[in-house]
Amino acid sequence: MSYAESFERSLNSPEEFWLEAAESVDWVQAPTQALDDSGGPLYRWFPDGVLNTSYNALDRHVGAGRGDQVALIWDSPVTGSLRTYTYRQLTDEVSRFAGGLASLGVVKGDRVLIYLPMVPEAAIAMLACARLGAVHSVVFGGFAPKELAARVDDAKPKVIVAASCGIEPTRVVDYKAIIDEALDEAEHAPSRLVMLQRAVSPAELGENDIDWADLVADAEAVGPEPVAATDPLYILYTSGTTGRPKGVVRDNGGHAVALTWSMANVYDVHAGDVWWSASDVGWVVGHTYIVYAPLLVGATTVMYEGKPVGTPDAGAFWRVISAHGVKALFTAPTALRAIKKVDPEGRLLADYDLSRFETLFLAGERLDPETLSWASQLLNVPVVDHWWQTETGWPIAANLRGLEPMPVKPGSATVAVPGYDVRILDADGNDLPKGTEGDIAIRLPLPPGSLPTLWNDDERYREEYLTAHPGFYATGDGGYLDEDGYLFVLGRTDDVINVAGHRLATGTIESVLAAHPAVAECAVIGVQDKLKGQLPLGLVVLKAGVEIAGEQLRDDLVAAVRRDIGPVAAFRDVLVVAALPKTRSGKILRKAMRGIADGRDVPAPSTIEDSQVLDDIALLLRAAR
Ligand code: COA
Ligand code: AMP
Repeated sequence: MSYAESFERSLNSPEEFWLEAAESVDWVQAPTQALDDSGGPLYRWFPDGVLNTSYNALDRHVGAGRGDQVALIWDSPVTGSLRTYTYRQLTDEVSRFAGGLASLGVVKGDRVLIYLPMVPEAAIAMLACARLGAVHSVVFGGFAPKELAARVDDAKPKVIVAASCGIEPTRVVDYKAIIDEALDEAEHAPSRLVMLQRAVSPAELGENDIDWADLVADAEAVGPEPVAATDPLYILYTSGTTGRPKGVVRDNGGHAVALTWSMANVYDVHAGDVWWSASDVGWVVGHTYIVYAPLLVGATTVMYEGKPVGTPDAGAFWRVISAHGVKALFTAPTALRAIKKVDPEGRLLADYDLSRFETLFLAGERLDPETLSWASQLLNVPVVDHWWQTETGWPIAANLRGLEPMPVKPGSATVAVPGYDVRILDADGNDLPKGTEGDIAIRLPLPPGSLPTLWNDDERYREEYLTAHPGFYATGDGGYLDEDGYLFVLGRTDDVINVAGHRLATGTIESVLAAHPAVAECAVIGVQDKLKGQLPLGLVVLKAGVEIAGEQLRDDLVAAVRRDIGPVAAFRDVLVVAALPKTRSGKILRKAMRGIADGRDVPAPSTIEDSQVLDDIALLLRAAR
């Protein structure tokens, strides 16, 4: 089937299209209906389907004769480890860990918070929750205790599964200390903590803590619990425009169907292929394309614990591709920029055999044309940009390599993926002509796999996504479609920034800066960075009469952001300004400041004072560079 046909069918005959796609999943009770629109504008997929996601990711392949195929390769240069699991072994490990969780009282619908670095146990814990019908919430290791506490209070997990530490190039991260601090701060108290003891730095266990090894030693394997397709599989928190993280909900049925469809049609990855997603299980890319999607289709997934450079060198990615015969890699442009910075000629590539490598997929942030051209020339394979969000869980726009490969246009994520009716709207909700920049919106319903709502907060889901353009999901990104239907994503239109492929709300950073006794008001904007795409910059107005040395203020603010949000915010830059430009109603003109920081021409503000303030900021920014 051609792309055009597939796209047209997905929008005009969604029942037929998605029920057919659902046939590639094993159901306890196959769905007879695809879309349930009775609760519109909140939609659900496969309302009468019953299945188990872990069964589809594991047992099913063992039953089909793939038991001895490698399901997961763990490659960890930071610990010098390499471990493989066949589908049979992974099924056994997951079944036993699920039994262990069950022995702690975890049942269908309970939440389990997972705070683990890039170790196989992260996938095992996620799949074990799925096996029980429990809802996991994985939290990224680079967040501070406060952020972890906010997630504990929102998800109210019965159990936490964690590791004693994470390993970063410059330090060992004491996860136990972070958890202890978070639990002191949180109101909700999980009943137990399961601790994976890592040899590098084992943790001291408290009275409610249990060693992972002890838990599984005594555990009985349990089978997959049938759940409704509409039951939640996981909650993944992401940054909103306000400081409070949003719990994106993923269901079981739509997720399994969409991910299976995407592996064949977007990535051209099938049973037996080796696939590597160099992300982190704490992010959506990690959930979808390290754990669930490759296993749902019976592929081999590579899980990598390390950085693109320095572990041991900038050839780390080429080594992994060559050592494991990787067919396709998915990572963020920032990882390539990091490699390019150290090895611009790609000399280290010469040491490795990449003959089985067919495609490089990039997403998570804008792919700059320079990186695209560098990677394409160096690797001599298609370099495919594609665009998606935590909320959708799988690509909205892509070059569909399995369905109908298309020419690459620099700056474009190619075309809307079947199921996504992507529109460019003006502020009044009118469709804009081709080539004109506007809000990127998706006509409802979103396809299977996308978020049905926010955890325990339908109201916030409606407010933040469905009200800007009634009948549409507002992506928060701006861009345009060209004459060929190629989508160009130009960046966020809200106060969300993207630092090294990590999504951050400037509002959260602002609330930390504002708490400093010397700060009268502040604004945080994302400024372009050659390596990380964007970096947060704090513009700070001091309280009248306060005297504080610039260095001291910066050190205080950097330390506060690390303490309250975490190192992942990569906050290092502070500029003291005399005033911030504001609208008549007193709102800070962030868009204008962002424009200036990016070196663009911005419309003149309505008052002379504000023009002056913007000029001053532009001068300071230039001087700071
Ligand atoms: N646990 C604890 N701390 C973490 C962490 C984790 N899992 N991940 C990152 N951090 C820390 C880093 O150690 C660093 O701390 P530092 O300020 O003390 O040095 C800080 O958070 C910032 O991290 P990051 O922005 O990732 O910078 P980096 O220098 O460690 O690595 C890249 C830069 C480009 C190599 C890295 O960001 C990368 O590989 N990115 C790929 C993008 C990606 O995975 N995106 C996910 C969506 S596809
Ligand atoms: P996250 O939810 O963390 O995956 O971040 C999603 C956001 O990252 C999107 O809303 C975009 O702003 C940005 N993004 C992701 N992929 C791309 C891409 N291919 N091009 C441009 N921006 C992207």
